Amino acid sequence: MRAGEDDVRPPTDLRTDIPHPARMYDYFLGGKDNFPADREAAERALAISPEFRTGAQANRGFLQRAVRQVTGQGVRQFLDIGTGIPTAGSTHQIAAEVSPDVRVAYLDNDPIVLVHGRALLAGAGRGTATVIHADLREPEKILANAEVREVLDFDQPIALMLVAILHFVADDQDPVGIVRRLVDALPSGSRLVLSHATGDFATPEQVKQARALYSNSAAPLVPRSREQVAAFFEGLELEEPGLVTPPLWRPDAPLKEGDDRAPGWAAVGIKP
Ligand SMILES: C[S@@+](CC[C@H](N)C(=O)[O-])C[C@H]1O[C@@H](n2cnc3c(N)ncnc32)[C@H](O)[C@@H]1O
Repeated sequence: MRAGEDDVRPPTDLRTDIPHPARMYDYFLGGKDNFPADREAAERALAISPEFRTGAQANRGFLQRAVRQVTGQGVRQFLDIGTGIPTAGSTHQIAAEVSPDVRVAYLDNDPIVLVHGRALLAGAGRGTATVIHADLREPEKILANAEVREVLDFDQPIALMLVAILHFVADDQDPVGIVRRLVDALPSGSRLVLSHATGDFATPEQVKQARALYSNSAAPLVPRSREQVAAFFEGLELEEPGLVTPPLWRPDAPLKEGDDRAPGWAAVGIKP
């Protein structure tokens, strides 16, 4: 794999004293790539609602089923922004189970993701997957990035993965416009695989507490309603079953009580 040009950073840049969403998410998923500040914040989140953990697991399940689905439909390229710390069942691993010729550009703005991504991809063939330091809030830079262009052919369908990331982009940073600019750059037949945290099923007090907790982290949390999440898919055709809670998106196991109230919305859109 190749490293992004500015992803070789001194360990001090990891800012282990500040809770990071990627490392809190890793903790929720049972990973070991987190520090005391992350664990403390994650435990406080779990005290607000145990759904931070079950929601993370459900979201990861959605990601994997969606990757299987779109790869099965012939999509071979993934632009996965907000990669997270790689755990088993990352996009390139799931996609490779369906087809060996997939190409994945992983992008994240957290340096720890790059460190782990390098290790994970060390065995991957050149051109298969790459990890790049980039920020979703700068879509033009992402689209112009030479490494992204080297891995992905923008004349062929691309699955744009924005899974559990847009709730870290505030309204005044124009999240809908960011998604539109990225989708506009993709050819017909491309997919938008997106999930997003919601407070639709939580009490106002739980939402307030969760927002307050993340306001002290590296990225504030902005839960959005189903209607607000639907706006990201404007102009796209939604795959069945449409915009649903993550466990309800093409489940491959029996549903559990409360799955229809999981704290997120998820869908896959197809660019006509
Ligand atoms: C909750 S994790 C989701 C990981 C993975 N997509 C999944 O769903 O399993 C969110 C990831 O988005 C990254 N992230 C947050 N804001 C970002 C931004 N503005 N640009 C790039 N990455 C960002 C975090 O560093 C973290 O790795």
